Amino acid sequence: MPNTQNPRSRPKQGKGSASGLLARRRQTLGVHSPLFYDEPIALVSGEGVWVTDVDGRTYLDAYNNVPHVGHCNPVVVEAICAQASQLNIHTRYLNSQVIDYAEELVATFGAGLDKVSFTNSGSEANDLAFRIANQRTGNTGIIVSDFSYHGNTSLLADVTTALPTRNGLSDNVRAIRIPDLDAAGNDLSSALLFEKGIRELDAAIESLNNEGFGVSAFLFDPLFSTEGLCRLPDGYLQALQQRIHAAGGLVISDEVQSGFGRTGEAMWGHELSGLTPDIVTMGKPMGNGHPIGGVVTRAELLDEFGAANLYFNTFAGNPVSAAAGRAVLQVMNDEDLMANAQSTGSGLKDGLEQLAARFDFVSAVKGRGLFFGIELLSDPKTGLSAPAVTKKLVENMKSNNILISKVGRHETVLKMRPPLVFNKSHAELLLEGLEASLNNI
Ligand SMILES: Cc1ncc(COP(=O)(O)O)c(C=O)c1O
Repeated sequence: MPNTQNPRSRPKQGKGSASGLLARRRQTLGVHSPLFYDEPIALVSGEGVWVTDVDGRTYLDAYNNVPHVGHCNPVVVEAICAQASQLNIHTRYLNSQVIDYAEELVATFGAGLDKVSFTNSGSEANDLAFRIANQRTGNTGIIVSDFSYHGNTSLLADVTTALPTRNGLSDNVRAIRIPDLDAAGNDLSSALLFEKGIRELDAAIESLNNEGFGVSAFLFDPLFSTEGLCRLPDGYLQALQQRIHAAGGLVISDEVQSGFGRTGEAMWGHELSGLTPDIVTMGKPMGNGHPIGGVVTRAELLDEFGAANLYFNTFAGNPVSAAAGRAVLQVMNDEDLMANAQSTGSGLKDGLEQLAARFDFVSAVKGRGLFFGIELLSDPKTGLSAPAVTKKLVENMKSNNILISKVGRHETVLKMRPPLVFNKSHAELLLEGLEASLNNI
């Protein structure tokens, strides 16, 4: 374990210091470019599950899923460098690296999901998925969860419910509440919550039909991570899929958060609920930080879209991106990282549950694999509201050299989602840090 103490007696000063970089960032990127923490961290290097800042202080990274197989993983770095020094070119030429990756990636899917179109990001992937759905169905109506984020294109800004956007939802969009058995204040049984959720879905479908939009797609994150890691009533997603299909729409599983073995139990999040989506989108961990995303779907859907639309994307699926993607799959396989997510994750979840039982302002431990949430309540002893408790804990963990974050409708869920190389000793450090921070509250 690296030394997490700051070896310097005084923090760095000047334009390369954290405060200097913050001022310069605001000057050039503007004041609204988002950052984490009251005092943002200026990072300079990373290795495995560790990142180090400009002052030489090292943090345990229990938050970042993009460096999926570890920060600066040497296999990925080597693959990127080797391909970059051989050839990088746009996507209208044949190249074996790209085809090898496409074959390896689609081989991780079942049920006819055997075609891929590469993109540069998760947003582009979801945008393309909407276009494919619109091409197939002829409909424009979209259903999403009422607290979700799927990307930053103009089409996706129209369906964003978890972040502020200027126009709010478009007329052709309906947002439904995803039932969560753990939601604060929920006193309904699984069966009643299921019925309530399906009634709301039926109303959304009916209203899209009545207003002439029809149903084009339901877009969802199988972990419902932005929503705060909902615990669904049994059978909810299958019933939802049946209804979307019956209404003529397609189901798009956004695996930007839940894919690539994050849950430990399956390569793709949708597999856990036993449904087969029509389209799967992906991004973030796909290139370990190198920008690449993708859409995986059935042949007839991609063919129908491609015949009517020439989809060309200069950088998407270039040889260097493909090399990065292949290296991620290789490391996952060589180091059996899905199994690690499952074993480290289940030990960590036990530890979190034991810890949670000792603090009356912790209401639930959520998540699976290496994706956790801890739902917090207000603290009667200190009078702090639940969002204030959550924020304080995140800041306090940073003081203890551990990076985590918060999520959920009211930002009352601590979010932990480390690189997949997070092992049992890292899990112990995380639990020790959390215990200290919870005591500190
Ligand atoms: C579930 C989900 N989908 C899509 C996106 C958008 O991905 P990107 O930022 O790569 O465009 C995000 C980003 O946070 C996400 O969490």
